[in-house]
Order: sequence, then structure tokens, then C-alpha cells
Amino acid sequence: MKVDLLQMVESGGCSAKISPKQLEEILKYLPLPDDPNILVNIDTHDDAGVYKINDELALVLTTDFFPPVCSDPFEFGQIAAANSISDVYAMGGDPVVALNIMMFPAAKLPLEAYKEILKGGYDKASEAGVKIIGGHTIDDFPPKYGLAVVGYIHPKKIITNAGARPGDSLILTKPVGTGTILAGQRLKLASGKDVDEALQLMKMLNKSGAEVMKKHSIKGATDVTGFGLAGHALKMAKASNVTICLNMKKVSLIGDVYRLTDDGCIPGASFRNLDFAEPDTKFDPELDYNLKMLAFDAQTSGGLLMSVNSGTENEVLAELKSSGLERSAIVGYVKDYKDKFLYLDS
Ligand code: CO
Ligand code: CO
Ligand code: CO
Repeated sequence: MKVDLLQMVESGGCSAKISPKQLEEILKYLPLPDDPNILVNIDTHDDAGVYKINDELALVLTTDFFPPVCSDPFEFGQIAAANSISDVYAMGGDPVVALNIMMFPAAKLPLEAYKEILKGGYDKASEAGVKIIGGHTIDDFPPKYGLAVVGYIHPKKIITNAGARPGDSLILTKPVGTGTILAGQRLKLASGKDVDEALQLMKMLNKSGAEVMKKHSIKGATDVTGFGLAGHALKMAKASNVTICLNMKKVSLIGDVYRLTDDGCIPGASFRNLDFAEPDTKFDPELDYNLKMLAFDAQTSGGLLMSVNSGTENEVLAELKSSGLERSAIVGYVKDYKDKFLYLDS
């Protein structure tokens, strides 16, 4: 029996996250633990927490899991693992070990599919040099999969949302549009070619991008996932207390995703992300509506958005391209805070 995981979910991947607005509402009631060894906590909405062990070593801790984004169980495992590990890369860390987190409807799916999801996860983890050393499973519908990942980092070399400085250029390492293409696939509007490209991009580790960041001592970065390019840029701007200006015309888009958007294929997650960002965003009146919505397209396993010292951006860009991230692009810049945290230029 051929299993099609997409038949089981209404919104897969990171678009299944609860809205950023609700999340902020919940998190504000949680007391932040007080410990000088906590170097990064949820205060800055960073990709991972960082805990100092000694002056040379800190641990990067993160977890992600979500419902299927694609039909094939093995590919779903690969994408979920690439996304989970990405948060360690986004902080400049080296991922080391991980635990599986799995929810699986044992009565509704053959165990073979279960095995394939885990095998996909192991495949990506080993590409990243990560050893999966345990996990936990719950019988649940629909299936969900991801990892809890631990990485190492030097306490003085942490890359965070709070590290963007006025004058920096912003580089994005992967094209956007995976949320819209996956929605288009459900509606049978997306081409097979675009779906394949989206799957390849989601499976791609952010490892080489992270290596370039470390080499250039970049201080501010995040990976672009469920809140979309603009949503994550906004989190970075808030944490860094700066204004970030994005130009969507400079952002690489996957295949025909602009046309899909123009045809009205806009996932609900894009509207939730827009709703969250709107009060803090200045929209250029000339901004194209489709590009505006693509700025908020939920990326399940998107690229790195890095804040690069001005003057080094072309060199960093060239290195990213030669390391296999050919569609990296300079997509905006950082300036002193003025009026709003985020500008969407046209
Ligand atoms: Co992240
Ligand atoms: Co995450
Ligand atoms: Co357990």
C-alpha cells in the first residue's frame, strides 16, 4: 500500500503552527527563569535557547515538529529533521545529538510509513553529523514528526535575532514560496516541477550557510520558517531595536509561485502572519499585493536571513553562491529605528 501523508492533514508543516499573536499572548505569562548561565532565552524570540556550561562551551537547545508537508513518508522525515536542526545552524552552533519526537496513528497507517519517516529523519541527521540517541512516541492522528536537537557553541560566538545593526545588509539564502506551492499542490494548481523544487529546498540543510556566517563573524541571523520572511525579519528588528527594510523584488521566488499567488492561492497562514506583523510594519503604497502576501508565506524549512556588515555583503553573497546556495540574494538592509520595525518597500 502506497501511503499519501498529505491526505491526512489540512495544514502541514510550519503553517500548522499556532498564530504568532496567540503565541505571544501565551508566552507573556510564563516567568523567565533567572540564571546567569542562560545566554539566550525566549525573550528575543530566538531560534533556540543557549545555556553556558563554561567559558568555552555552551549548549544550543531547540525542538520543532509538525504534521506532514508532503506525501512521501521518507521525504517528510528528511524535511522535518532539516527544519529541526536548522535552528542550531541559525544560532551559529554545531548540532551534535538529537531525540525523535513522533506522533503516529498506528491504527490508521501501516507501520512501514512510521519506519520510513524515522529513516528520513536519520538520513538528514547523519548528513548534518547529528546522532539520534533516543526519542518518544505517542499514538495520535494526524502524524507529526520532528527532533529535539542539542548543539555546541562558543559562548562568545552566538548569532541571535538581536544582532542586526544599522547599516547592515540582509542576505537570504533560499528562495521563498514553499507554503503557497504546498497549498497549490492540494488544490492541484501547482506544477510538479515547482512542487519538486519546493521539496528539494525544504530538505536542504542550512549547514553551508551557517559555515559562511561563522567565517565572517556574523552576529545577527535567523532561519525563515513558519512566520514567513517578513515575520522573522520583524522578530529580528524588534530584538535588535532597529528598522529592517525588505524589498520583495529582490527576493528569489520558487518557480511559478508569483502566478499561483496572483490566481488567489494564498494560504491562511500568510494572513495570520500578516495580521501579526501589520501594526509594526510600514507598507509602501506601491507594493505589489502578491509580493506582499509572499513576504508572509510560511516557509516550512526556509533559508537563513543574515545581517551582514556593510562592505562585506558582496563577498558573503559570492561565498554563499559558490557553496551551493546559488539563489542567495541581498534582500534589504537595516537602519536606525524609525516609526516602525519593518518596512516593506516596493
Ligand atoms: Co527558527
Ligand atoms: Co524552530
Ligand atoms: Co519518554
